[in-house]
Amino acid sequence: MGIYPRHSFLRQKRLRRTGRAGGPAQVQIHQPLQRLKVSKPGMSGARKVHIKSFGCQMNVYDSHRMADTLAPEGFAETATPEDADLVILNTCHIREKAAEKVYSELGRVRALKQAAARDGRRIVVAVAGCVAQAEGREILRRAPSVDLVVGPQSYHRLPALLARVERGEAVIDTEFPVEDKFDILKAPSREATRARGVSAFVTVQEGCDKFCTFCVVPYTRGAEVSRPVAKIVAEVEHLADAGVREVTLIGQNVNAYHGEGPDGSPWTLGRLLERIADVRGIGRLRYTTSHPCDVEASLIAAHRDLPSLMPHLHLPVQSGSDRILVAMNRRHGRADYLDAIARMRGARADMAFSSDFIVGFPGESEQDFRATLSLLDEVGYAGAFSFKYSARPGTPAAEMADQVPEEVKSERLQRLQAAIDRRQAAFNARSLHRSFDILFEKAGRRPGQIVGRSPYLQAVVVTAPSTAIGDIRSVTITEIRTNSLFGALNATPVRAREPMPAEAGG
Ligand code: 5AD
Ligand code: SF4
Repeated sequence: MGIYPRHSFLRQKRLRRTGRAGGPAQVQIHQPLQRLKVSKPGMSGARKVHIKSFGCQMNVYDSHRMADTLAPEGFAETATPEDADLVILNTCHIREKAAEKVYSELGRVRALKQAAARDGRRIVVAVAGCVAQAEGREILRRAPSVDLVVGPQSYHRLPALLARVERGEAVIDTEFPVEDKFDILKAPSREATRARGVSAFVTVQEGCDKFCTFCVVPYTRGAEVSRPVAKIVAEVEHLADAGVREVTLIGQNVNAYHGEGPDGSPWTLGRLLERIADVRGIGRLRYTTSHPCDVEASLIAAHRDLPSLMPHLHLPVQSGSDRILVAMNRRHGRADYLDAIARMRGARADMAFSSDFIVGFPGESEQDFRATLSLLDEVGYAGAFSFKYSARPGTPAAEMADQVPEEVKSERLQRLQAAIDRRQAAFNARSLHRSFDILFEKAGRRPGQIVGRSPYLQAVVVTAPSTAIGDIRSVTITEIRTNSLFGALNATPVRAREPMPAEAGG
């Protein structure tokens, strides 16, 4: 059975609430396109696809799966749009700036398309991702050079949709289909997996039921849906077999995971992590992005019991003020958040945390903002992302009174970012002369150097042969420059879990 029927009605209802989606049915716009030559495999070599991802890791994963699904259709990936037969922009709608970026990118693609047409070559332009889902037909109105608009739940239909584009239709598919796209999307080839490196994302959960009042995700990605355990394990085994050493399980609300286990009962994320830790070849596990309300006992136990689960958790709080957390409909207060952090630290003393913050949410006073600054001090984050509140059409917060003036948002963002930078520098400084296991991912900028990541996602540069790429090796940090750490390989691996020393007052 597909995994969407339970929620499909709800999804359409939510989308209608925004008043901006393409509507429940697949819409065809009969706008004949000029028929130009599209090279076919076996005729003038493989066709080429260029996919540009904006936004979050979910989009990076989706872009890979689109490329994998197009590979058997004769499409090879290209890093440049100039020589592509198909350009896909995989878009993000989370903030206004992100959405507008797509239109400026489409301006550039239109110029390429026109230049190619003068040479008798056709570039097909597709818009995928959350802007596609949210704006649907509006994209074709604003950017007539677009041939295809495809929402995140329809990527498995790409070959069929492209066939319709080739027949001269402009196509929009923003449905939430009943079939499970993950059953139809193609798995990557060994070569594709290797080319993408030793660290891979695996989507385990999509969508969100939380409805924070500022956020478009529940509308663009729909209701929470979890993939079954067996399918995730098979995907991880396939990746491990091709040389992947680190897997990050991803989902908009990943710790709300409740996929069907082999025994037919819903499994928690903690249980899933425990199962995946057994996959041979996988040396490291991570997951993102988590919600504070779903930090439950089995997840804490996983951090206590699984050495391969990295002691780093991205746990967005958005604000340190209880008043603002209520207005955001976050469903947790400051104390609940601190309690989740304390429970994690109780299970594993070397846990480090990062967060997302929004400044200038409607009604945010200077006092509320100071509560955010003080939370930063109280938690002692390893790093954080911070954003100015951006009103998104169709979300409740966009209608709230007391929108904060732009200058106030900018000033608060500056102060917050400076505080985050100080925290991050202090965290990095505490890594000096310490030893960590580093997973080496790629060659460094200088000859003879390779770069890897610490358990805390810090980039670490060492002088070592490139044959060490893919290895997890013990490194002592010898130098720190801005956000890069430099180190030297140790002879023996780190085995003991040494906690990061606590920051004075942190
Ligand atoms: N304005 C600003 N930031 C936002 N985010 C989500 N929606 C908005 C918005 N409307 C931020 C949140 C979230 C991150 C992915 O993006 O901090 O955690
Ligand atoms: Fe958006 Fe809130 Fe869901 Fe995160 S938890 S995706 S911020 S609605």
